[in-house]
Amino acid sequence: MDNSPTSLAERKAFVTGGAKGIGAAIARRLASDGAQVTIADLDMDAAQALAQEIGARAVKLDVADLPQVAITIADLGPFDILVNNAGVDQHAFFTRTTPEEWRRLIAINLESVFATTHAALPTMQSKGFGRVINIASEAGRLGSRGGAVYAAAKGGVIAFTRSIARENGLKGITANVIAPGPIDTPLLRQALEHGGDKLLQGMTGATLAGRLGTPEEVAAAVAFLASDEAGFITGEVLGVSGGMGCGA
Ligand SMILES: NC(=O)c1ccc[n+]([C@@H]2O[C@H](COP(=O)([O-])OP(=O)(O)OC[C@H]3O[C@@H](n4cnc5c(N)ncnc54)[C@H](O)[C@@H]3O)[C@@H](O)[C@H]2O)c1
Repeated sequence: MDNSPTSLAERKAFVTGGAKGIGAAIARRLASDGAQVTIADLDMDAAQALAQEIGARAVKLDVADLPQVAITIADLGPFDILVNNAGVDQHAFFTRTTPEEWRRLIAINLESVFATTHAALPTMQSKGFGRVINIASEAGRLGSRGGAVYAAAKGGVIAFTRSIARENGLKGITANVIAPGPIDTPLLRQALEHGGDKLLQGMTGATLAGRLGTPEEVAAAVAFLASDEAGFITGEVLGVSGGMGCGA
């Protein structure tokens, strides 16, 4: 057994939206660090293909289906590491959005995080160990032009995570947020289809690094926060955004 502080051997991890993009990089990285990974995603074909490649387990799950989230975690858990990564964005000025769209964004980006955390925390509490790592966005700290409801949901994830950190600090559980900036994934490429080069330049120009990030750079931060070495870090928001959120 690897006893190094960064090893995740014997840890069980649940990664939502782990089939593609940032979630796939997280699943891959946690598995290569030794964790037993469960990938929960809507896209079962992609989830299964990745699970097979990295020796993980795949389960079909819509994170907005709150009762199904509870059943899935009860059936497949307990988990030591919970990574809430599944999320969707929508590009439109707020006055052009509808209540149905607000509810969908809130359900997928925020309520899902309540549901997974509600289901996974009790066993972490009884074990005296847990890592909750939520993938929000710099939009949750800075706001987003053309993404007001998304930003509100991600801001909610930040406040929720800090509250979970406060409630569970004495129980060996840490809860932290990663706030990515623009990361080169299918989600971002979809946005660029509408916004083109101008949007790409706006995104890279908003970072101090002047470029898009990679899913692997987000995954490295998740692996660190999941490790034993990060046991004294909780309630934090870590920007993986080329400095986009510096000062926020
Ligand atoms: N890419 C970026 O630039 C960026 C920036 C900031 C934050 N984020 C956040 O990072 C996370 C991952 O984003 P990404 O760019 O990798 O997205 P992506 O669209 O490339 O991948 C998202 C994955 O989540 C899955 N998914 C979507 N809805 C789901 C649902 N209801 N239930 C289960 N699975 C679902 C998809 O099937 C896909 O596998 C999201 O929370 C997103 O808001 C991304």
